Amino acid sequence: MKHKKRNPIRVYVKKLDSVSKQDKWGYMKQGLTGLFLLISICIITFPENQVSIVGCGYVGLAMAAVFSDSGHTIICIDTDRNKISQLKNNVLPIYEPELAERLFFSPQSKHIVFTNDFNDAKDSDVYFVCVPTPTNTDGDCDRTYLYSAFDSIINICGNAPAIICIKSTVSPGTIRSLYTYLQEQELDNIELVYNPEFMREGCALQDIYTKNPVILGSESAHAIQNVETFYRSFLSDNTKFLKTNFETAEIIKYAWNSFSAIRIAYVNELADLCSLLHGDISKVVQGIALSEELLPTAVLKPGPGYGGSCFPKDTSGFKNLLKTQGFASSLVQQAIESNELHKERLIQDILANVTQQQGTVTLLGLSFKANTNDIRSAPSIDIIRALMHNGLTIKAYDPQAIQDMKRLFPEVHYYKSPYEAIKNTDCIVVLTEWDQIKQIDLEKASQLCHKKNIVDARNLYDVSLLKKFGFNYINMGAF
Ligand SMILES: NC(=O)c1ccc[n+]([C@@H]2O[C@H](COP(=O)([O-])OP(=O)(O)OC[C@H]3O[C@@H](n4cnc5c(N)ncnc54)[C@H](O)[C@@H]3O)[C@@H](O)[C@H]2O)c1
Repeated sequence: MKHKKRNPIRVYVKKLDSVSKQDKWGYMKQGLTGLFLLISICIITFPENQVSIVGCGYVGLAMAAVFSDSGHTIICIDTDRNKISQLKNNVLPIYEPELAERLFFSPQSKHIVFTNDFNDAKDSDVYFVCVPTPTNTDGDCDRTYLYSAFDSIINICGNAPAIICIKSTVSPGTIRSLYTYLQEQELDNIELVYNPEFMREGCALQDIYTKNPVILGSESAHAIQNVETFYRSFLSDNTKFLKTNFETAEIIKYAWNSFSAIRIAYVNELADLCSLLHGDISKVVQGIALSEELLPTAVLKPGPGYGGSCFPKDTSGFKNLLKTQGFASSLVQQAIESNELHKERLIQDILANVTQQQGTVTLLGLSFKANTNDIRSAPSIDIIRALMHNGLTIKAYDPQAIQDMKRLFPEVHYYKSPYEAIKNTDCIVVLTEWDQIKQIDLEKASQLCHKKNIVDARNLYDVSLLKKFGFNYINMGAF
């Protein structure tokens, strides 16, 4: 970030010329001490940089309060004249605990400026965009306010370097389109960061200080570094930062809100069921929370679809119970359907790789997960059926599950070594996360294949290695 020039020293030195020479050294010593104090005060109290917040709503105003701790000048812009006039008169147009005190009456609040005029925000180092992105008639997010704010910022930037940091929630692909626009217009003085916001109304300030992750998506390491430095200047050392590309940052925000919505909808369904069956919802939630350690969110990993002896059977039982209790389309039923659709997409991916009839596919892993021989309701069963239906030859390797699978599908060719199974194949399909499969030498595998196609349904292999050894790969959203 650039630093603004100040020169509070010159005036003091001029005054020294009018005193006698003897006194000069004494004055000089006092002067130097004073100068040191003055510089210290300047460093502590004078803003070093200027950042702007575009959109003074729930997010923008909470940001302004928190950002003022940075000591930077915070220019808050809004197109709503009435709102700005209220804010200038210390009237908060929304209710949020502690926000009014922080925005209008804290020592830091003197760094906050409210305006309708984008020109007042000229020369800002970073423009944080917090404008609304409501739902369109077609269900997508309305980007009108975002585009308008973006244009206004570009207009005042001219050729000056600046970072536009978008905090508004947008559907994935939006930020890339803004980035492409900047490139087409050759506006390479402007860098773009997507920094979705996670605060919750009602505890916004607490969230921002203590709970919010800082997700930074950009094509520019320099911009990410600057925005991170800015945040670190006032956030706690415990704040978690995650740096990625635009699309991942956009998906994180939508995924988090939807994940939260799914969980809330689920607990509401469970509460309705408890009312009908004399269950106690608070104990049900407590019980679920106690079991959370078995599948913590942090270790959620995609795969070929759940299987095994429990999930398919129990979700089916629960779905039926819910149906008889009047839940026409429960979340459990939707989860079952989603699992089936996921397997179907995987089958289509495999078939897309093996275009010719009589092609050969090698399945690596047959059990529904690693470290068990259990093949009950394993995704491998549906996949074998679909591949056989399409006239393909199937070879398979699994450290423990071959005996059981042989009984179901004697026509599959089974191997004790993954390399034997891979030999002359047209497509490798990784279904189980066994260590023996994880540790395969990809270079050797690439030399044994007939065609270097791989569908890695467990994200076991490093994409850079797959590329290095010439594989045409499909995986579960990893790159
Ligand atoms: N409210 C939340 O709790 C929350 C949390 C996380 C993310 N978000 C996201 O943050 C964004 C902002 O949400 P909000 O609740 O603060 O919205 P809001 O409606 O409360 O405030 C947005 C402000 O932007 C102003 N505005 C509109 N167009 C403008 C323009 N071109 N230039 C300057 N100002 C303009 C509006 O006048 C309004 O004051 C949305 O995308 C929202 O989805 C909101």
